[in-house]
Amino acid sequence: MAHQEPATEYVWRGGFENTEVERLHAEAFDHSIIDYGWNGQLERSLGWVTARSDNLLVGFVNVAWDGGVHAFILETMVAINQRRRGIATQLIDRARAKAREAGCEWLHVDFEDHLEDFYVEACGFRATKAGLIDLTR
Ligand SMILES: CC(C)(COP(=O)(O)OP(=O)(O)OC[C@H]1O[C@@H](n2cnc3c(N)ncnc32)[C@H](O)[C@@H]1OP(=O)(O)O)[C@@H](O)C(=O)NCCC(=O)NCCS
Repeated sequence: MAHQEPATEYVWRGGFENTEVERLHAEAFDHSIIDYGWNGQLERSLGWVTARSDNLLVGFVNVAWDGGVHAFILETMVAINQRRRGIATQLIDRARAKAREAGCEWLHVDFEDHLEDFYVEACGFRATKAGLIDLTR
């Protein structure tokens, strides 16, 4: 029988351990693992989406909001060995549906140039101008 990949399960506000989100974040954004309180941080968000395969956290996105009509995509991340299978597109799809359901009218995201194909072509964001100040300088 042909080997079948386990199905990826997406859950809005799915349960997670701080350590597994931090491990995925460290892998995705190339930093060392710290003792970060994802639970506390995410409590302030509209929500988040977990993607699990074989119970392992393989994808995650945080949906921050202003308490009104604006929601903000943060920390879209997929495990390196699970990329280019459409997982992040599914995460954004669910984030979009839930933000709309919550009464948001706008979904924002900032991204670097190399991710334009992902956010604009694959996920359907419209490119706009945005501003940024580096507060560390
Ligand atoms: C960006 C990221 C979330 C994409 O996850 P993914 O599950 O591989 O994305 P998808 O499979 O849904 O990609 C759908 C399409 O988007 C585009 N795309 C995805 N990743 C891309 C990349 N790194 N560069 C350019 N285009 C990309 C492709 O067109 C892709 O379709 P294809 O595979 O048929 O060519 C993942 O690479 C990641 O975790 N990167 C590190 C963290 C990061 O930079 N996050 C974004 C913060 S703004």
